[in-house]
Amino acid sequence: MEKRSVLIVDDDSNVTATIGECLESFNYNLQVASSGEEAINKIADPSIALVLLDINLPDISGFDVLATLKQKNSAVPIVIMTGFVSTDAAIEAMKKGAYEFITKPFDINKLIGIVNKVMKDSPYTKGLETFSRERKIEESDIIGKSPEMVEIAKVIGQVSATDASVLITGESGTGKELIAKSIYKNSLRNDKPFLSVNCAALPETLLESELFGHEKGSFTGAYARKLGKFEVCNGGTIMLDEIADMSPLTQSKVLRVLQEQEFERVGGNETIKVDVRIIAATNKSLVNLIKENKFRVDLFYRLKVVSLYIPPLRERREDIPQLIEHFIKRYSEETGKNIKGVSKEAMERLNDYVWPGNVRELENNVHSAVVMAKTDVLTPEHFPILSDQHEQMSIDLEQLEDDYTRMFAEVIIPNFNKIVAVSNGHVYHHLQSGFEKALFSAALKQSASNQVKASDLLGISRNTLRDRISKYGLY
Ligand SMILES: Nc1ncnc2c1ncn2[C@@H]1O[C@H](COP(=O)(O)OP(=O)(O)OP(=O)(O)O)[C@@H](O)[C@H]1O
Ligand SMILES: [Mg+2]
Repeated sequence: MEKRSVLIVDDDSNVTATIGECLESFNYNLQVASSGEEAINKIADPSIALVLLDINLPDISGFDVLATLKQKNSAVPIVIMTGFVSTDAAIEAMKKGAYEFITKPFDINKLIGIVNKVMKDSPYTKGLETFSRERKIEESDIIGKSPEMVEIAKVIGQVSATDASVLITGESGTGKELIAKSIYKNSLRNDKPFLSVNCAALPETLLESELFGHEKGSFTGAYARKLGKFEVCNGGTIMLDEIADMSPLTQSKVLRVLQEQEFERVGGNETIKVDVRIIAATNKSLVNLIKENKFRVDLFYRLKVVSLYIPPLRERREDIPQLIEHFIKRYSEETGKNIKGVSKEAMERLNDYVWPGNVRELENNVHSAVVMAKTDVLTPEHFPILSDQHEQMSIDLEQLEDDYTRMFAEVIIPNFNKIVAVSNGHVYHHLQSGFEKALFSAALKQSASNQVKASDLLGISRNTLRDRISKYGLY
């Protein structure tokens, strides 16, 4: 059998040489094309088992080359390489049928891993057909070049041709709704409706009627028949936002929609058939709710056919400057101002800030800075969050619970087996009294054993304090 080849398409001879060196120890033939046209001519060669394709070619755009190559030989996996990273490019590459999307300068080990994987199960035939269909590309507003955002963009591209349910998780303000809309915009259903329902905003009966509709007279105030979102959205995509807050009864009805594509309106007997794609989002841990029997595990699995976790902004700080620039541009245009950017000091401090409210918090702050600014460069004074006082406050109000959970988790989780072993079935009681003793001792020490001061400090009554002092013998 003829030796299999890897075709490298890149006009930069340094790149082709580096890849050539990397692949030298493997038993592959190397072929090089330095333009799109050359690549298109070469793809007919049946020995080619893998294409490494640069996006920036001298003659034709790499995306067009990708589409043509897929048309001529849809079975050959094509890895897109690019030095100009954007989420748009990653989405487009995956939609056009790319096998992988890697960024330059690339991680040699990653490249070798991809080559090995492809060459092992080549010819690559599985699952490509669905991805290679050409569709119109919608402009996407997702800003970010961090590896995390590029991965997310790749998944958006990959799920675009499917109807798979997607579960999006991430802290508040990380962009869950934006990502859901992007999945919709890039999907085959983008000519059908997209509706979002906030499951936390409505009490159970209203949410049910919102989702499934109701018949006239089904409850007080139901003066006429009302169609629910599932019915209105038939053929389209529905976003179930804050899904963790959905009641068990509603969960079972949604599960039925996912399994049987059917439901009845509240107070009605007629079974209604629908075809809707579901994208669910939450900032809570569904796994924890499942453990507490508050969320159905079967629904969980139905929802997370594909799951997407959006990391908090503080874990992908390299996206901060680009987001700032993006929102300055947007709000400058909106307010008719001509803000050029942020000063070096402001940028440094905005980079270091924790952003407990994630991108939404950043957007709001840039917005108000742009509105308030009298100069064309934004300085730290334009960002109240950068003042010490504010930082203190935002941590107190928004981060407190999470921070403490993390602090205790750091102690409890690694020692948990030990704690269980020595607590003789009284884990909760032992941890609780250990915590209280430590806390009350610290407060008494801080207030020099003045009980009034100590109870004020802790925000509890003097009686409670006295009770704990005698309970734990803390004199
Ligand atoms: N990567 C991003 N690029 C551009 N804008 C973003 C990005 N991420 C978030 N945003 C913007 O930040 C704001 C908050 O995003 P979004 O509403 O999608 O967050 P969320 O995760 O749904 O938050 P919540 O959990 O509070 O509902 C929106 O205005 C959105 O457009
Ligand atoms: Mg949201």
